[in-house]
Amino acid sequence: MKQLPYFAKDELGYSTLYVDGMPYMGLGGELKNSSSSNANYMRDKVWPAIEPLGLDTLLLPIAWETIEPVQGDFCFDTLDQIIIQAREKSVRLVLLWFGLWKNGESHYVPLWVKRDKNTYWLAEHSIGGTSYCISPLCEEAVQADARAFAKMMEHLREMDKDHQTVIMVQVENEVGFLGSERDQSAKAVVDFCENIPEPVANAFMRNGNWTEAFGEDAPEFFMAWHYARAIDTIAKAGKHQYALPLFVNAWLEQHPRRPGYYPSGGPIARLIPLWRLGAPNIDAFAPDIYVSDFFGTCQEYAVDNNPLLLPEVRRDPVTASNVFYAFGQKLAVLFSPFGIDEFTDNVDHKPNHKLLTELNIDVESFNCSGTAPYLISSYALLRSARPYLLKNRMRMTGFIKKDQHDRGCVLPMPHCDLLIHYQSDEPGKPSTAGICVQEGADSFLFLGCRFRVEVLPKRNSGKRLAALRLEEGIFRGDEWITGRILNGDERGLLSCGDHASCFRIIVGTI
Ligand code: DGJ
Repeated sequence: MKQLPYFAKDELGYSTLYVDGMPYMGLGGELKNSSSSNANYMRDKVWPAIEPLGLDTLLLPIAWETIEPVQGDFCFDTLDQIIIQAREKSVRLVLLWFGLWKNGESHYVPLWVKRDKNTYWLAEHSIGGTSYCISPLCEEAVQADARAFAKMMEHLREMDKDHQTVIMVQVENEVGFLGSERDQSAKAVVDFCENIPEPVANAFMRNGNWTEAFGEDAPEFFMAWHYARAIDTIAKAGKHQYALPLFVNAWLEQHPRRPGYYPSGGPIARLIPLWRLGAPNIDAFAPDIYVSDFFGTCQEYAVDNNPLLLPEVRRDPVTASNVFYAFGQKLAVLFSPFGIDEFTDNVDHKPNHKLLTELNIDVESFNCSGTAPYLISSYALLRSARPYLLKNRMRMTGFIKKDQHDRGCVLPMPHCDLLIHYQSDEPGKPSTAGICVQEGADSFLFLGCRFRVEVLPKRNSGKRLAALRLEEGIFRGDEWITGRILNGDERGLLSCGDHASCFRIIVGTI
């Protein structure tokens, strides 16, 4: 069997996903929640819809209710057909295991689980006030999910280990308790008053019960610990069968920043240390980014041993520029706008305000009308440049317009400074983001959207500098192939426009 995908640190110290022995840079998209529940629908609707986008990685849900409709009877027909379809399209898959929890609730468990609330009991908002969320403290439920997940991983090993079409699995989806800070079921009430577990006490140097140890954060820490332990049980059972990389994704902490308004106990950035402790079988923690602060969220999640992995990002056109920052500055392993099967269908997807309000998602971030042409340009350019970018990983700098007041940045180089002017944002267009590759002391290659480059001398150097040569070109293999040399009337256009593009400059004294 060839080596499975794995996470390891690269030569820069960044945690990276290796697939086929190479750092991965997945140009992805995530399907809508129900699209992968039927293989014919995938064949007839989904593959044709995503074909023009040029994805090489597709993220799709596999629901527990689909694979274990009757307790102990497993059916993998739909999954198998989807894997075969993906092979025909040369697309890699990331499976999203919708088991016990999806967005803080338990809608994807099989009917036999839904009907047996005595065995698979629910978390409670107040004593007796049930939720639609099976409690992470319900050991029977966690074991049942772990058995099903292990069966799926065993099946993947048997049918996919030689192809490795499936490269990674997300365990559950945006977990946490919605509506309250913590579970008030009988078991949770008792456990909450007990002393914190020894590993938590040692790692955080606290002691006493949860409240004594963590004060007003106690309910959220308590939930995080129990979700982490539950998910670790599930992940461990799966890895034992087939050791693919596993990750969890987070519904971000956002206004009003009260646990319960976002799922309490989910893997938000400040809880990653606790999650790492509780879920050592989880390899990565991923943010779902619908907020406007793409820069800040990347900062929070691309830390220490955590690779930047983006299973769900905004659907509006700024996603076509954000992708350059994710790969260029943070060496992201995957970038994936949500609901990708809707991007090319020319249907005006009226925002479902009720749903988006419930999910605390900014309506604008969900509007994918007009995004496809820009995303197609960005993905096409990145796909062709990928071998070159991978070869030049150590020489890349990414930049991004952080907000509407951000006018630009200065990239210091050995003999000059490169002043990047950001364009004003325009509705319905990407924003500014790009990548600068420092090929040599005076040679720079740029890719991205909506910026202009000006060459500045180092301060007090007394020199007059300019781009002595400006090239357009294409990427072939890991090489830049020069196209036209832009001079005369075209000279001085050191810029990228609304659609992603690239150019190279050679700087010198004039
Ligand atoms: C985030 C979830 O993770 C997705 O599955 C989906 O529900 C979107 N929100 C909103 O449609």
